[in-house]
Amino acid sequence: MSTFWSGYIALLTLGTIVALFWLIFATRKGESASTTDKTMGHSFDGIEEYDNPLPKWWFMLFIGTLLFGIAYLILYPGLGNWKGVLPGYEGGWTQEKEWQREVDQAEAKFGPIFAKYSAMSVAEVAQDERALKIGARLYANYCAICHGSDAKGSNGFPNLADNDWRWGGEPETIKASILHGRIAAMPAWGQVIGDEGVKNVAAYVRNGLAGLPLPEGNEADLGKGSEIYTQTCSVCHGANGEGMAALGAPQLTNPGAWIYGSSLPQLQQTIRHGRNGQMPAQEQYLGNDKVHVLAAYVYSLSQAPEQLAKK
Ligand code: HEC
Ligand code: HEC
Repeated sequence: MSTFWSGYIALLTLGTIVALFWLIFATRKGESASTTDKTMGHSFDGIEEYDNPLPKWWFMLFIGTLLFGIAYLILYPGLGNWKGVLPGYEGGWTQEKEWQREVDQAEAKFGPIFAKYSAMSVAEVAQDERALKIGARLYANYCAICHGSDAKGSNGFPNLADNDWRWGGEPETIKASILHGRIAAMPAWGQVIGDEGVKNVAAYVRNGLAGLPLPEGNEADLGKGSEIYTQTCSVCHGANGEGMAALGAPQLTNPGAWIYGSSLPQLQQTIRHGRNGQMPAQEQYLGNDKVHVLAAYVYSLSQAPEQLAKK
């Protein structure tokens, strides 16, 4: 801000405060000292006004707010280029500095706790009640928006509370999923195997692999579907639909854990156009130590307490 505008704002603000002081004292002088029944003499729609002094508490409150305003303008920036002299803020208070201070304080308080946990294995941390509480809070803040507050997932987002993993369920693998993110690549097969092919293989996945019934009158050729599966799909999804964690290719035998649906139209959509589910990497954002605790929390969700104790 230029010196002119800075001076202009400071002058205007201070001038207003001085004027308000003058106003309150000037009007007080003209008052009668004690309570009377006399009215001011004017009437607003029949409402009249007594000529009484300002209540003392009101007067003091007015003075109080003016003094508060002055103190505020001394401590915080507000008067043009004046930066304020709030203790603890070298060179004046700013939002960024306040935020940084809070972050530093939180870091000083929680840093050692997270450091302690990150020196333990994920499976060990998963048995620490306090760590799990911290993990639950981190989860609610950063993960629930996609994976659901109960971690059971929804359309397009995998369930993290069951024991079915697309990328692997070992504690360290879960951590890698969170830390580095995952990008799944299910290719689009519509052009390659044609419409008939899509219908046949979708029916084969639904019925032959997942054991779900086909709608009455469905004319898909399961034999041809099975052939396509072996030639085209088994490289990633496994010979018997068991999936392949290294590629994030899910099993095709447990439809309850599928994220894109198990109806024939949904399966055909997936197969025809492909899918590219993305888990955003958290390393830059949350850092290793928080992700470590989060991984332990996520891991704990699918482990029965007795199993946890064994690891
Ligand atoms: C190159 C490896 C690869 C091949 C080949 C492949 N898939 Fe996939 N498939 C994947 C991956 C990875 C995913 C997970 C996509 C995601 O999570 O977004 C997937 C997902 C799926 C799903 C969705 C599962 C769910 O959770 O809803 C179905 C169904 C499926 N594939 C069927 C097939 C069929 C049928 C074929 C053969 C025509 C096939 N895939 C070929 C890698 C492959
Ligand atoms: C923007 C949405 C989104 C957010 C936020 C998100 N995730 Fe994910 N996550 C996904 C998707 C989508 C997948 C599945 C990727 C795929 O298709 O394979 C996934 C996959 C995962 C997996 C692998 C699951 C498996 O079956 O192998 C884990 C573990 C995971 N997320 C944990 C977390 C945690 C912990 C957080 C919080 C830090 C989080 N996610 C935040 C969308 C999200």
